[in-house]
Amino acid sequence: MDYEAVMKLALERGFYFPSCEIYADAQAGFWEYGPSGVSLKNKFLELWRRELIRRDGMLEIDGSQIMSKSVFEASGHLGNFADPIIKCTKCNATFRADRTIAELVQIEIPESADLEEFDNAITQNNIKCPKCKGNFNKTKNFNMMFKVGIGPEEEEAYLRPETCQSIFVDFPRLYKTMRGKLPLGIAQVGKSFRNEIAPRQSLLRLREFYQAEIEVFCNPNKLSEVEKFSEIQDVVLRIQTDGDPVPMTCKEAVESGVVPNKLVAYYLGILTEFYEKTGIDVTKSRFRKLGDKEKAFYAKVAFDFEVETTIGWLELVACNYRSDYDLTSHAKKSKQKFEIMDGDDKVLPHVFEISMGIDRSLYTILEHSLKDDKEHERTVLSLKPYLAPIHVGILSLVKKDGLKEKTDEIYLQVKRKFDAFLDHSGAIGRRYRRLDEIGSPFAITVDHQTLEDNTVTIRKRDSMEQSRINISELDSILLDSTAYP
Ligand code: GLY
Repeated sequence: MDYEAVMKLALERGFYFPSCEIYADAQAGFWEYGPSGVSLKNKFLELWRRELIRRDGMLEIDGSQIMSKSVFEASGHLGNFADPIIKCTKCNATFRADRTIAELVQIEIPESADLEEFDNAITQNNIKCPKCKGNFNKTKNFNMMFKVGIGPEEEEAYLRPETCQSIFVDFPRLYKTMRGKLPLGIAQVGKSFRNEIAPRQSLLRLREFYQAEIEVFCNPNKLSEVEKFSEIQDVVLRIQTDGDPVPMTCKEAVESGVVPNKLVAYYLGILTEFYEKTGIDVTKSRFRKLGDKEKAFYAKVAFDFEVETTIGWLELVACNYRSDYDLTSHAKKSKQKFEIMDGDDKVLPHVFEISMGIDRSLYTILEHSLKDDKEHERTVLSLKPYLAPIHVGILSLVKKDGLKEKTDEIYLQVKRKFDAFLDHSGAIGRRYRRLDEIGSPFAITVDHQTLEDNTVTIRKRDSMEQSRINISELDSILLDSTAYP
């Protein structure tokens, strides 16, 4: 189903909604997750930890969101992390130059292009302010970081624009105290902040957003020595360099030189396997190799993992080979040592980054899972059972004759291990429909027979099939069906 259908579901079923929505001065680009959204996010992250973090014994940290000015002087964000903006000379409205040009005259100019390229496109195509038809000033760079003042002296610091900077800054300590060995992945989940000019489309362009980032520290002389490469060598990647994406195995991608080495191919492979398990249709995905003008300022080689949705291709993950850019910059600025011993080699590690946008990934999972079942006049969120916000609905057929008490008793037992939802009121059909919309893979109904023989009806979300089971079987059925793969 499409963006509007997902939005309706999100608002009506507690997935997400605008922040501060009761006030007129609520700002765009800030959204809250409701209970269903939090539950889905937590389960998505558990899958991420299983498939990527624990698989290779990566380390996970939880760093500060506010970081000192020096960090971003060293990282280059204070100098380079900017969007091109244009301001109307008549009504003072400000727009992002690249997006406005793309929307008005369908010319794609990468956001990191030289500023004159935007000015030339504006002049040559006679582009005017979409609000008042006024002329634009020359394109300028607008730094996207949020500045904060610390303490009464308001010392300058910043909300982090990417979670990974604490991973780089903490690397020497972590490598030493955790007895690291290259290649070493260090990960972090958390919020990042970017002062977007034009936040839009709910979770898709936020000013405050969640990232799950992995920085793999590696020996640049050993990028083709990847012990576990055979585990993923046959995983199919859809790689786009020019033209349409071309499906190829990880092995073929390395042999043909499309992916520069086994280390990068290995992580693209495990990332693909991860997304397959989220329920996203990976046949609608591609790794788009970015050109020099599109890459972030710190990246030597970059592949964006993008997925096709009803509103176009969405970038869910940026995979950047950042080389020694970050460690060199922090070593220079802090005057600390970042080299380590890898066997007999003294090396300054290089970094390959897998930077995942959590909010966009959750949106895409919702869009790819939401189905309009016309035959049964229902909307079904066919989430993988292990990602479902609610594993099972526990319903009483009627509230009287002791059924309510029996239902409450079953609910108390089930909710100790599973995410369960108790519902006593309303027509049973409508209660099933609500559970289908929230993606609950099962519903249990307690009826008069339950009081006689301890059996309940179990209904499956996708097939709507119903069968009778003994209450004693419930635990193992739910355990088996909601287990992570
Ligand atoms: N760390 C890369 C990014 O935030 O895009």
